[in-house]
Amino acid sequence: MAALHLVPGTATTPADERPTSRPRGRSPGVTLRELGPDETDVLDTVFAGLSDHSRYLRFHGATPRLRGAVRRTLAAVDGRRHIAVAAVGPDGEPIGIARLIGLGLREAELAIEVVDAWQGRGIGRRLLAAVAVLGREQGYSRLVADVLTVNTGMRVLLASVLPILTVETDGHETTLTADLRAGTPAFVAA
Ligand SMILES: CC(C)(COP(=O)(O)OP(=O)(O)OC[C@H]1O[C@@H](n2cnc3c(N)ncnc32)[C@H](O)[C@@H]1OP(=O)(O)O)[C@@H](O)C(=O)NCCC(=O)NCCS
Repeated sequence: MAALHLVPGTATTPADERPTSRPRGRSPGVTLRELGPDETDVLDTVFAGLSDHSRYLRFHGATPRLRGAVRRTLAAVDGRRHIAVAAVGPDGEPIGIARLIGLGLREAELAIEVVDAWQGRGIGRRLLAAVAVLGREQGYSRLVADVLTVNTGMRVLLASVLPILTVETDGHETTLTADLRAGTPAFVAA
């Protein structure tokens, strides 16, 4: 990708949050920006801030370190098929990432993580709303999230931002699909 493709603040609805937005709500001083390719330092910093439990929820298994192939895949952001947004704390440290990876022309898979020290402060919701805006701009109409069935937080978070279309549980894995065409609700901006 030639440029970082930062998106100017021309929201299609007042509720949309875009990268480079101003700090707000329960997370003052936290800003969002679109991630560019090969920003492995950001990946590593966020991964280092995840507890073993958060890594388990994010990667669906014990993940003591980011292995080469996975790390390379996560760094291969192109702003179109693979979109990522990072949250940056007041001290400039990355504290969370949300990403969409296209599964086809209209569907994209969602993954998101917030470092433990910042969980429960609205960062995940902001990241999800922001990456949803970018995904919609790229023509995706549905998000697919494969989550551990025990991951109530992620399930509640997704349902609080986008309308859920389907929920399929197969043992310890649950797949949710969400409608990306719907605008993010007003309380996302709160
Ligand atoms: C899931 C995760 C991304 C949520 O991020 P977060 O910044 O902690 O979430 P927020 O503070 O934005 O929460 C937004 C809403 O989600 C819901 N939510 C978040 N965590 C929750 C939990 N543990 N239990 C129930 N609801 C929860 C709440 O409705 C919350 O709104 P409220 O605080 O106004 O009630 C974060 O906890 C995380 O990184 N977990 C580990 C990795 C992971 O599970 N990733 C998802 C799999 S891809």
